[in-house]
Amino acid sequence: MQSTTFRKLALLCIGGMATAFTSCTPQTQPQAENGCEAEQTCESNKVIETIMSRRSIRKYKPAPVNRDTMQIILECGINAPNGMNKQSWEVRIVDNPEFIDGITEVYKKANPKAAEDPSFKNMFRNAPTVAFIAHDPGYDCSQIDCGLLGENMILSAWSMGIGSCCLGGPVRFINTNPDAAPYLQKLGFSEGYRLLYCIAFGYPDETPAAKKRTWDKVKYVE
Ligand SMILES: Cc1cc2nc3c(=O)[nH]c(=O)nc-3n(C[C@H](O)[C@H](O)[C@H](O)COP(=O)(O)O)c2cc1C
Repeated sequence: MQSTTFRKLALLCIGGMATAFTSCTPQTQPQAENGCEAEQTCESNKVIETIMSRRSIRKYKPAPVNRDTMQIILECGINAPNGMNKQSWEVRIVDNPEFIDGITEVYKKANPKAAEDPSFKNMFRNAPTVAFIAHDPGYDCSQIDCGLLGENMILSAWSMGIGSCCLGGPVRFINTNPDAAPYLQKLGFSEGYRLLYCIAFGYPDETPAAKKRTWDKVKYVE
């Protein structure tokens, strides 16, 4: 049932995106002339709403993300801006519990304390679907490409009710622990590509509060 519903959703979204992306005349962006106008834009703008409401999710319902929905998320990912359109990324989606639980066992062996937490289900912050993202170290902007790809995936997912958590920790483990090597090999990245980070995805089972941000690091230069 879910699959059919999501297939329709996928077609609708892809159709919608295609219409938006292929319309002949470029849309003129509204110019905010004063703060008030900008505030009104913030309140009604879906993109801004998605960006501002997104949180990292670390508790998920057990079902993996429907693959049709994942397809839309990936479509949004690969449409991210990227240096010279080199698309210097490779992405592998894993929603196979054997893989996720198998590598988690390796992780638990090396970090027995991690599994003491009663909420611990797997090393990917308990997510049922994981996107592994590798970059081409031979291109100096490839990490930027991969970051932008991931943020597109994260935001498009959130806009469809899918939670996520960007993860560096598990990748550090996978890249350095010899017992994890068979799993890294199974991901099958091309020669020369290196696993950079992963993103946990799933249907959220928590609503965490926003973490505080600081403006101290941001300045206009006159
Ligand atoms: C490069 C990167 C690596 C991250 N690695 C981890 C991680 O290993 N484990 C984790 O739980 N969260 C990880 N996060 C998520 C951050 O902790 C989270 O984005 C940050 O605390 C801000 O919270 P928010 O995403 O809810 O706004 C990572 C995020 C980024 C961008």
